[in-house]
Amino acid sequence: MTDHILDDISPEGRDLREYTDELRKSHAVVKNTFNEWVLLKHADVVAAAMDHERFSNAASRYLQIPNGMDGDEHTYYRKVIDRYLSKEALQPYIPTFQKVATQLMTELPRGEVLDAVSEIGAVFAVRAQCEWLGWPKELEPRLLQWMTDNHAAIRSRSHKEMSDLATQFDEIIRSVIHPRRANKVQENDDVTTRLCHDISLGRLLTETELISIMRNWTAGDLGSIALCVGVIAHHIAHQPTLAEQLRTAEDKEIEAFIDEVLRIDDPFVSNRRITNCSVQIGGQDVPKGAIVKLHWTSANRDELLFGDNKFDPKKNRKNNLVYGVGKHACPGRLLATWELRIMVRTLLSSVQTITLAQNQEAEREIAPLGGFHRVPVVLS
Ligand code: HEM
Repeated sequence: MTDHILDDISPEGRDLREYTDELRKSHAVVKNTFNEWVLLKHADVVAAAMDHERFSNAASRYLQIPNGMDGDEHTYYRKVIDRYLSKEALQPYIPTFQKVATQLMTELPRGEVLDAVSEIGAVFAVRAQCEWLGWPKELEPRLLQWMTDNHAAIRSRSHKEMSDLATQFDEIIRSVIHPRRANKVQENDDVTTRLCHDISLGRLLTETELISIMRNWTAGDLGSIALCVGVIAHHIAHQPTLAEQLRTAEDKEIEAFIDEVLRIDDPFVSNRRITNCSVQIGGQDVPKGAIVKLHWTSANRDELLFGDNKFDPKKNRKNNLVYGVGKHACPGRLLATWELRIMVRTLLSSVQTITLAQNQEAEREIAPLGGFHRVPVVLS
């Protein structure tokens, strides 16, 4: 094992995937400058994610419903959340996401350089989530600014900035919760109103619980969807014939394509656990109370399972870890998959070509973020 690797993920300017591909050749586990144990191999990441006894999710001092919880407490809250993210619950929003994607495509310029992450991905993510949650359209600029500032704070690893931004985001959530708490619940109410009046636990959720749940549905995931759009747009723009094939593909094929692109270039980099006892993993003795990182981006490229990472959705599907594995696997997977599929399909049907801008390189994100910071493309 290598002690104190400069950064568990990517030193500035270096492709995180190349870096972890290189590290994985000689290490199953690395320890980063923050004293965290980073698991790089698929088998170890899956083993830790499935071992809910020895690897606890209570790795943060903040209330995180349900990701910071274990055992019965996690199950208790997860049931509430899953109801809002089931196929039946999400189906009615498909036309809405379609409308959002179509509208965005009419606004985007043709023949000019634009950034697929901030001008397509982020705007689509914010508008689609606002529609789903029933948040006012006027919040769009504030949410977009917040996403930019949050990514900058994550990159700079400034705890003060991240904490100030978390407070700002809680204020945004409070501003939508307060009026909805006061209203009487009606049949066609939006998701936020329904959550505010949810009594499936035999009581109303407290304001603190509501904020924590909504923060997990928005703060991190808006950024993830935007980064996913960047990775997918980059992949399509690289291969001109691909757009043609995808235009006539079935929904399921497009979804499988997206999952595989994201496996090879997973922008949702890692999640943390804390050990409940001393454990042996990846050939290392890890003490009790240690922070362990499940490095999805690295595990998703492990040559032991994926060989030379050739694009093969069918073959790689069952080992794909983009949405995690085990009890904490992403409850928002269907929502994210549908949103991404609708955005990709609409993008392809609204333009003839999507190409990488000449003389402008796509810029990789800086750890601990993955994917791209900027993907300059031209639509025609
Ligand atoms: C492309 C976008 C997304 C990706 C790549 C992604 C990925 C993940 C992954 C890997 C996990 C597992 C975390 C762990 O094991 O610690 C997770 C958990 C979670 N995700 Fe997502 N996610 C996405 C979108 C969403 C959306 C749209 C929502 C909700 C609206 C959401 C809500 C959650 C929640 C609440 C958890 C914690 C689940 C638990 O602890 O039981 N995610 N996500």
